[in-house]
Amino acid sequence: MAFDISDYTRHTAPLDTTGIDFEAFRDRPLDPDTLRVLEYMHDVEHHTICYLRDLLVTEAHVDPTITTFLTFWAHEEHWHGVALGRVLAAHGREAGDERIARLRRTVRPKERWAPLTHAFASAVAGRAFIAVHMTWGAVNEWSTQAGYARVLQRAEHPVLTELLRRIMRQEGRHIDFYASEARRRLDGDRRAQRLTRWALQHLWRPVGASVMPEAEVRHVVRHLFSGADGAAAADRIDRHVDRLPGLAGLGLVRGAIAAIDPQSSLVDCMARTMRRSTGRGAARTDAASTLLSAPGTAITSPRSIARTP
Ligand SMILES: [Fe+2]
Ligand SMILES: [Fe+2]
Repeated sequence: MAFDISDYTRHTAPLDTTGIDFEAFRDRPLDPDTLRVLEYMHDVEHHTICYLRDLLVTEAHVDPTITTFLTFWAHEEHWHGVALGRVLAAHGREAGDERIARLRRTVRPKERWAPLTHAFASAVAGRAFIAVHMTWGAVNEWSTQAGYARVLQRAEHPVLTELLRRIMRQEGRHIDFYASEARRRLDGDRRAQRLTRWALQHLWRPVGASVMPEAEVRHVVRHLFSGADGAAAADRIDRHVDRLPGLAGLGLVRGAIAAIDPQSSLVDCMARTMRRSTGRGAARTDAASTLLSAPGTAITSPRSIARTP
């Protein structure tokens, strides 16, 4: 079904935090690993406006439906960052402007040429470049939605669960937009399909990986996408990507995770294999972990391992 942009603009709003008891975190705080993931998400949500900067210098700015969506998308993502900042503040962690400004100063040298490279690539690729961006957006929104689902699943904190469910409802509308635009622009366009496939295969990394420190990216990947449930979440995203025209069989998310965290990906791969062969994979996951943590265990070719079906 086509995305109704008028309906979206009528219903968009700052995240409703009515009734969210942020003070409850003082009596029942979140664990440090979850807080570290939330710091990452706070920073990335607030970086949305910089992604928008790079999008607006491309062909995408010519399409009024896209620019209307982007206007409200950036608005909603901003309020996601603010809400996560309140969770961090309740734990005495830094959030908000100073933290955001520091990240932007840090990534400035790396991002200095980003608008120029986007504009140049868009000028060369033409309209096919919009398909790349819309597909990229869909993958990132699917990943974000899955990431929040995993955070609340692991944290088991009622206040955080309610807050993240509200954020996820808005992320769901972002998915609807990007996925419908991607499908429409890839459908029947071999050039757009080839370009998008190449860009994802060679350039895509998990959301935030281009701006966050490697250690934080690895922590988020390990926290959210390791173990049987994490691997299943990654597979679900890959199935969404596979269903887009011309993108079947990419193994995108599993491949990217394996490149960032080869060890836990290998554990997951072994668990999958054991589950298929014995039907008792969950019980064998610990065995796989033990084997891999043994001194001298060799890990080779993570990308090919990750692409094992
Ligand atoms: Fe968001
Ligand atoms: Fe989003």
